[in-house]
Amino acid sequence: MRLDGKKIILGITGSIAAYKAAILLRLLVKEGAEVQVVITPAGKQFITPVTLSALSGKPVISEFFEHADGSWHSHVDLGLWADAMLIAPATAATLGKMAHGIADNMLITTYMSVRCPVFIAPAMDLDMFGHPSTQNSLRILAGFGNHIIEPGEGVLASGLHGKGRMEEPEKIVEILTGYFGSKKKLLNKTFLVTAGPTFEKIDPVRFIGNYSSGKMGYAVARELADRGARVILVSGPVSLKMDHPMVELISVESASEMYTAATRVFVECDGAVLSAAVADFTPEEPVRRKTKRGKEPWDLRLMPTRDIAEELGRQKKKGQLLVGFALETHDELENARQKLLKKNLDFIVLNSLNDAGAGFGVDTNKISILDQYNNIQNFGLKSKALVAADIVDKLVNFTSAAEG
Ligand code: C5P
Repeated sequence: MRLDGKKIILGITGSIAAYKAAILLRLLVKEGAEVQVVITPAGKQFITPVTLSALSGKPVISEFFEHADGSWHSHVDLGLWADAMLIAPATAATLGKMAHGIADNMLITTYMSVRCPVFIAPAMDLDMFGHPSTQNSLRILAGFGNHIIEPGEGVLASGLHGKGRMEEPEKIVEILTGYFGSKKKLLNKTFLVTAGPTFEKIDPVRFIGNYSSGKMGYAVARELADRGARVILVSGPVSLKMDHPMVELISVESASEMYTAATRVFVECDGAVLSAAVADFTPEEPVRRKTKRGKEPWDLRLMPTRDIAEELGRQKKKGQLLVGFALETHDELENARQKLLKKNLDFIVLNSLNDAGAGFGVDTNKISILDQYNNIQNFGLKSKALVAADIVDKLVNFTSAAEG
């Protein structure tokens, strides 16, 4: 059973698709999951708690308090208990409350207390789904790193035809089992991730840097660690925090420090994801004292840095995986293909500065992945957390293929 022992909170809200939640619950239990149903008051209008408690083998939680005996349900304990939370169906109202922290029922307080991944399967009429407020909520929720399970298109309960049908229960279960399956595959593996910019010292107060925020690399590190891998994160100067028990952070400043750290740890790794924006040139010799303003121009002589990716590509042993990034402004695919070959990468993640919402600083990204077998996958605009999940999915596929 693919969900053996997994503890799942199934959140049900007031949509007609709530009837499908019973089938979903049955399938989760069949896969070995322990399921705790939390239902909103409106949800109970569509499906009875008796059905749900019979299928899950547990009393259904809906209110903060049990009126019969005055006991109360701890959303905090529930949040710590779960390995995953799945909200299916999720109405426009629930999405809006989740996006804005309106914790006025047990389901939303639980959502705001969980530390596990959250999967959300919206279900509503096509106009409600297409409404800017719903789309805004979904963007916000994706930005928080929640997994949105897109609704399908078809005949809706209203009789209208369009997008808004909750994804089929079988498919939702596949998504969850896929998530936990890939998690197991990364246990006992170690990955190096490089992230952020590098600062190249000009004098004691000045440097040459770049706009990289480190967000993409940190998201990849977190995703790998969430799926059970040990991660060594070699990071340039960023304002991000990393406090994941599976991530060891090595902070560096310059391209040369990053090179030293990365080449030192790579031998003990099963692979590396090189997302850092490493300086290509560094001042020939940093000046020891602050250079004073004068009338004369200041010529800086820059020397090329060593390419970490290329060096690791040379060192790469059978079974080690190397993933690079390419940020291009023109001839994107061709440049990415050249880099893939030159640096001996298994696959390269291409993001274009020409795409709105992709690239430096922003919380979203739009990528294509090009692999050594010339396969190209194009992805839509997503939060960097979800882009990281796509990259790690690809990495898991490659790892599994290498292991036969
Ligand atoms: O050649 P370019 O810098 O565009 O290649 C980008 C890829 O190479 C990224 O994965 C980046 O992290 C890596 N790289 C590196 N060391 C360098 C320059 C780039 O690891 N000195």
